[in-house]
Amino acid sequence: MVEQVYIRDVAKHVGEGVVIKGWVYNKTPKGRLQFLLLRDGTGLIQGVAFKREIDPESFAAAERVTQESSVIATGIVRADERAPGGYELSLTHLEIVQLAEDYPIAPKEHGVDFLMDRRHLWLRSSHQWAILRLRATVIKAIRDWLDSHGFLLVDAPILTPAACEGTTTLFETEYFGEKAYLSQSGQLYNEATIMAFGRTYCFGPTFRAEKSKTRRHLIEFWMVEPEMAYADLDECLRVEEEFVSYIVGRCLEDRAEELKVLERDTTLLEKVVPPFPRISYTDAVKVLQQNGLEIAWGDDFGSPHETLLASQHDKPLFVHRYPAKCKAFYMEADPEDPELSLSADLLAPEGYGEIIGGGQRTASLELLERRIEEHGLPREAFEWYLDLRRYGSVPHSGFGLGVERTVSWIGGLEHIRQTIPFPRTLGRMYP
Ligand code: 4AD
Ligand code: MG
Repeated sequence: MVEQVYIRDVAKHVGEGVVIKGWVYNKTPKGRLQFLLLRDGTGLIQGVAFKREIDPESFAAAERVTQESSVIATGIVRADERAPGGYELSLTHLEIVQLAEDYPIAPKEHGVDFLMDRRHLWLRSSHQWAILRLRATVIKAIRDWLDSHGFLLVDAPILTPAACEGTTTLFETEYFGEKAYLSQSGQLYNEATIMAFGRTYCFGPTFRAEKSKTRRHLIEFWMVEPEMAYADLDECLRVEEEFVSYIVGRCLEDRAEELKVLERDTTLLEKVVPPFPRISYTDAVKVLQQNGLEIAWGDDFGSPHETLLASQHDKPLFVHRYPAKCKAFYMEADPEDPELSLSADLLAPEGYGEIIGGGQRTASLELLERRIEEHGLPREAFEWYLDLRRYGSVPHSGFGLGVERTVSWIGGLEHIRQTIPFPRTLGRMYP
C-alpha cells in the first residue's frame, strides 16, 4: 500500500512511492512526456508522466486531463533542483476524480472585476493562496501574543444599539422593532470587560458603510482590539510596538515561502523592531506643510498625508495627540492642552496607511457626558457606558488593529481586497 502524503512533506519521501490527492494547477504536454503541475492545498509539485514508464490508461488520462481537474496521482518522489519547489513526482499511476470543464481563469492576466466575480475559484491561484496563508499567520500571531501577555479574550456583540466610530458609516438593521447597527468596533464593550478582567481583547468582524472606494477600505473587515485598565497612552504605544513587531517577526519566520511567492522585499520587514518613531499631530502638520501639502492645523489626515509622513521612516510611525475634534467622543483630553486628545494612530511604512487607531479613554464622567452631547449621540444608548465612570473609573487605554491592512502591508500587496477570502467592497457582495 503506497502512503498518501501532502506536498509540503514530500522532502521526507525522496525515492519512495507516494499518493497525492489534489488538482491539476497547470499542464505542459510534450508528446511522450506530460508535465502536470499538481497542487493539494499545501504546495505545488511537478508530476511527470513518461509514456514508457506508466500504464497506457494513466498516460491517456494525463493527456486528457484539464486545468483544475481533481486527480489522485501515484508516483516516486525525486529531488530535482530545476523543478519548482525542488522535487518532482515520476508518475506511475493517474486517476481523474473529475475532469474539469474549461477553467475560466487561465494562467494569464485577467481584469480585477473578472477575477472578483470568480473569487471562489481565484482562491486557488498561488498568489491568493500565499496571501490567505499569510493572513492565517497574522491572526495566529495576534492571538499568541495577546494570550501570552495577560490579555483575556472576551468577545463583543455584533448587533449593537449605538455607534462607536461616528454615525456616518453605520450599517443599520432592525432588532424586533428597534433600530440596531452592525458593530463598527467592540471597544466600548472592552471598556466594560477590563473593569472585570484587567486586560482583555475582542477579535471579530466589524462593519463600516464606507462610501470610499480606495485600496485601503473594506465594508466588512476584521479587527483585534486590546484594552488595558490602568494604562496610559505611553504604555499603550509600548504595547503596540511590541505587538506589531512580534506579528511581523512571526510572518518572516513561518511564511518565508509565501512571502517569496508574493515577491516581498523582506529586508524592509526585518527593520520592524521596537522602538517605533513618534511624532505629534502638531509637528506632523508642520512637516506636511514644509513638504508642500495642503493642510491646516485641525484638518484630519488623508492618505497622501499619511503616506508622506510614513515615507520618512523605515519603521511604522506613531502620530499622537490629534485635535479632539478629529477623533471619536471617547478620547481622553490632553491635560496639557484640552484641545488635543490622548490619541495615536500607527502608520505603516511604504504607503500602507493607518493600521492601528487607539489611545487613552476619558475617565471622567463629566467630560464624557459633555462629549456625548457635543457629538449629538443618543444619551440613553450610552447609560451603561457612563456607569463605567461611576463605579471605579480608572485611567485606561486600548487600540484596534485592522487585520486586512496589516496583511496588505506585510504581504506588500497593491489592494486590500485580496487579503480577505470573500471581500465586501463598495457595491460588491458577490460571491
Ligand atoms: O481607527 P479605527 O476606526 O479605530 C477604532 O475603531 C477604535 N474603536 C479601535 C480601538 O481603539 N479599540 O479603526 C481601527 C483600525 C484602523 O487603524 C484600520 O487598520 C482598520 O481598523 N480599519 C479598516 N480596515 C479596512 N477597511 C476599513 N474600512 C477600515 N476602517 C478601519
Ligand atoms: Mg482610525
